[in-house]
Amino acid sequence: MNHEGETIVNFSDSRIVAEYRRRTPGSAELAKQAAAVFPGGVTHDGRILEPYPLYVDRAAGSRKWDVDGHEYVDYTGGHGALLLGHNHPRVVEAVHRQLDRGTHFGSCHAAEIRWGEWVERLVPSAERVRFTSSGTEATMMAMRLARAFTGKPKVLRFLGHFHGWHDHAAFGVGSHFDGTPTPGVLAEVAGNVVLAPPGNLAGTRAVLDQHPDIAAAIIEPTGASWGQVPVLKDFLVGLRELTAQRGVQLIFDEVISGFRCAPGGAQECYDVRPDLTTLAKILAGGLPGGAVVGRKDILDALDMQQSAASGREKVPHQGTFNANPLSAVAGATTLEIVGGTDVCQRANDYAARLREELSRVLRDDHVPWAVYGSFSGFHIFTNPQKLDITAADIEAGKHDYRVLKAAVPRSLATKLRLGMMIHGVEIFSWPGGPTSAVHTDDDLRQTADAFRRTLKMLREEGEIA
Ligand SMILES: Cc1ncc(COP(=O)(O)O)c(C=O)c1O
Repeated sequence: MNHEGETIVNFSDSRIVAEYRRRTPGSAELAKQAAAVFPGGVTHDGRILEPYPLYVDRAAGSRKWDVDGHEYVDYTGGHGALLLGHNHPRVVEAVHRQLDRGTHFGSCHAAEIRWGEWVERLVPSAERVRFTSSGTEATMMAMRLARAFTGKPKVLRFLGHFHGWHDHAAFGVGSHFDGTPTPGVLAEVAGNVVLAPPGNLAGTRAVLDQHPDIAAAIIEPTGASWGQVPVLKDFLVGLRELTAQRGVQLIFDEVISGFRCAPGGAQECYDVRPDLTTLAKILAGGLPGGAVVGRKDILDALDMQQSAASGREKVPHQGTFNANPLSAVAGATTLEIVGGTDVCQRANDYAARLREELSRVLRDDHVPWAVYGSFSGFHIFTNPQKLDITAADIEAGKHDYRVLKAAVPRSLATKLRLGMMIHGVEIFSWPGGPTSAVHTDDDLRQTADAFRRTLKMLREEGEIA
């Protein structure tokens, strides 16, 4: 969620904050220690939370427990990596077995092949696979491969879409929509990134025509930030045509949608084949890992012999933990389950029911927000501009990033998350979350109940009318 204002919000008269503080003295103490070690006390911007973040001790299935012993229904889902929930027994067993055999051989090993074969089997456009250690590394490499393949310098990105935190991706996501770089990013790098309006084919065509030196267009195929700003199938089909006509490489960033929308990701659901796809999260079964997959002729730029044969210099690529044995066995085991069972469908079905339940709470309580999303995701739109808006309109692509990513008052954004926590539910900072294949009817009931109670407290505190 994009927050308004930089100052610390005064929470002293908030019952929600007081209750959070009362329940979480262990987290408060750890946050104090963390502040002396980490900038801002955290290790990921998404975990920034006032008055201090929750510290978690352990997790299982759809639940986790904080250091003070409180239980939560979990919708952070390992940042989307845990389609199978926490500690799936088969994944845990595979990792335990591998731990005893060695965590890093610094050599090739059979598990990486098994893992790569599963990726090729499930992802429709994957003719070749190159593993990385994260989604950020995967999108960085996909852009580099496209530039090497086409000999062109620029990358087209869509406003509001998230592709990790490397220099080509670190602006125009939640701010800097004018394409200026965020601090530390070179103006020369930003100058080689062109931002286009998502969902607008005519606008995208104009941008492509204006910049004949674009190597690649990269997109989150379900829409910015896991569908927070939905993208529709027609746009993907049109984009595929526009890019193919111009020799621009189309990259689907399926770091979050891959193995989640369906075993073959969004490209399977929408029946659109990109040239390159980036993967991470579910790919590695809850451990670190990423991959670039796609057309053989493009990935051949990483192959010494193929590069020599085509008279081109090879694209270099290292990475200490690429396809490390632990990630490989966790990933291969997870993908085997994804490919052989209905886990994607179960997570999608749960999310649909959850969206419906939370929307019912909003209707019953006359709160002019919307709960929406697609596949196994839900987003809570708190409607800061007080627009006349419905989930159906949002899902139909009628509102763009300026509406759906508009700044939300920080006190409301914070108290919504804290309020859910004091009622035993942890949501992601969007606000919303990914669902898993192991969320239960009990989880659903508890989440709806927590939402209703949180809204009541927010109303009492004057955060909503
Ligand atoms: C669509 C998308 N691309 C890239 C990334 C970056 O992946 P990682 O956090 O593994 O670097 C993310 C992470 O949330 C993502 O959702």
